[in-house]
Amino acid sequence: MRNTIITNINGRDVAITDAPPDQMALAWLRAAGFISVKEGCGEGDCGACTVALGIPAGDGLDWREVASCLLFLPMLDGRAVLTVEGLSGSDGAPHPVQQAMSDGFGTQCGFCSPGITMSLFSMGRRTGKSDEAIFDGLAGNLCRCTGYRPILEIARGLPALTAGAGEAGLAARLRGATAEPLSYSAGGRSYFAPTALADALDFRAAHPEAWLLAGGTDLGLAVTKRHQHPDSVLSLARVAELTGIKDQGDSLTIGAAVPYAEILAAVRHRHPQFADLLRRIGASQVRNQGTFGGNLGNASPIGDSLPGLIALGATLLLASQRGQRRIAAEALVTGYRATQLAKDEMLVSVQLPDLAPGDLFRAYKVAKRRDQDISTVSAAFCLRLDEQGRVGALRAAFGGVADRPVRAHHLEAALQDQPWTPAALTAVQAALTQDIAPRDDLRGSADYRRKVAVNLVTRLWHETAGAAEFPASLDSL
Ligand SMILES: Cc1cc2nc3c(=O)[nH]c(=O)nc-3n(C[C@H](O)[C@H](O)[C@H](O)COP(=O)(O)OP(=O)(O)OC[C@H]3O[C@@H](n4cnc5c(N)ncnc54)[C@H](O)[C@@H]3O)c2cc1C
Ligand code: FES
Ligand code: FES
Repeated sequence: MRNTIITNINGRDVAITDAPPDQMALAWLRAAGFISVKEGCGEGDCGACTVALGIPAGDGLDWREVASCLLFLPMLDGRAVLTVEGLSGSDGAPHPVQQAMSDGFGTQCGFCSPGITMSLFSMGRRTGKSDEAIFDGLAGNLCRCTGYRPILEIARGLPALTAGAGEAGLAARLRGATAEPLSYSAGGRSYFAPTALADALDFRAAHPEAWLLAGGTDLGLAVTKRHQHPDSVLSLARVAELTGIKDQGDSLTIGAAVPYAEILAAVRHRHPQFADLLRRIGASQVRNQGTFGGNLGNASPIGDSLPGLIALGATLLLASQRGQRRIAAEALVTGYRATQLAKDEMLVSVQLPDLAPGDLFRAYKVAKRRDQDISTVSAAFCLRLDEQGRVGALRAAFGGVADRPVRAHHLEAALQDQPWTPAALTAVQAALTQDIAPRDDLRGSADYRRKVAVNLVTRLWHETAGAAEFPASLDSL
């Protein structure tokens, strides 16, 4: 077992042996002198702490913008890190992104500029630069002074960035040096990052109190905001069985520790509506880290992925040292932030079936802002109409209207075999009342949530039966 965190920061190999494993990368980087990396919110919302994380992939590094305030320090193991200090060339000449930020007047206060610069760098390394991709890539970086217009212009004009000379060698070196699992301890705390599921399950059985860590976008906040400090962490981020996506022909098996950014790429063509919903989870920094395992494991009543997974008929593979079992997505969450996972169990993967021919899928998220906001109410529907225009089959699920995401069985039964006409909608309110039990909170009253849930079924009708008046989705209006 290896007990040293091996990383590369701005081109220099770094070995870390003495920092506590629940220190966030942001704090460590600043203490190490990389003070371009700024702390704004400390909770993944502002982008000031954005660094580029280079993940060995193929022959090179896949650079992703991430929020260093939510990265447990050992998450840098086997990765390269780039901050603004490392962007300029060895002769001190500014990097093309830095030059463009300066020439295009993209910076004033300077506090947010390093994070924006690193997001632009990561974006420049990806292919395609549509406005949508630019908006997505920058939505997680707040800038209140220059405004976004100059920054958007800079993004539009950026040249494609290619791999630096030593990148392939660095990727191979990082891979080789970190092939062995990491078992790291410092300051009385420990962090285990196995590479095989069997080792993860053995550790989980022996240490059920250890935090199960995937992307850290929820657990990072437990440290930075709730000041909790785990004695022991079990990281799933390198477990082979949890980190891949397999195409089964008629379904996808998505590892529980695969970040949303990769899920999005895989589901975009098979489930474009679901992909649109996933694209609204946090900003790209959050989607580069966050996972289905974390979203389902935290069992939040407003977690965005579960209603979609329920409506699509997804199943979940759970495993412990005692064996594996498969359950329907809707059976996982048993109450407010409670799941049916046993103490020694974990989620391994999500099996997402393709839509059957003729199935119509819609997923909606109602929040105070379009980007970077959590849901007040969400809903997902999979609808099949028969040849007579009646509801042949419906799976409906809602978030934000009960102590957990719910499948709306009464709604489904009320609409089954009904002509899909405005008359069918009259039954919706009474049926939904039996499926949901919303509460008042800061984001919306129970009454508001009830009305939104009913309205989302009406919206489904407009987008499916009312095609003549609403040729596309309401979003396109
Ligand atoms: C700025 C910001 C914006 C956000 N926006 C949204 C949003 O719009 N919509 C939304 O739904 N969420 C949002 N989130 C919450 C979070 O990003 C998601 O819930 C994400 O999916 C969590 O995944 P993770 O891998 O980071 O989880 P982690 O923080 O690693 O873990 C979360 C929980 O899940 C458990 N867990 C992790 N993996 C497994 C597993 N394989 N088996 C069992 N349990 C497991 C952990 O033990 C922990 O209890 C946001 C978070 C931030 C910081
Ligand atoms: S400090 Fe705001 S996103 Fe990290
Ligand atoms: S550069 Fe800081 S607010 Fe815009």
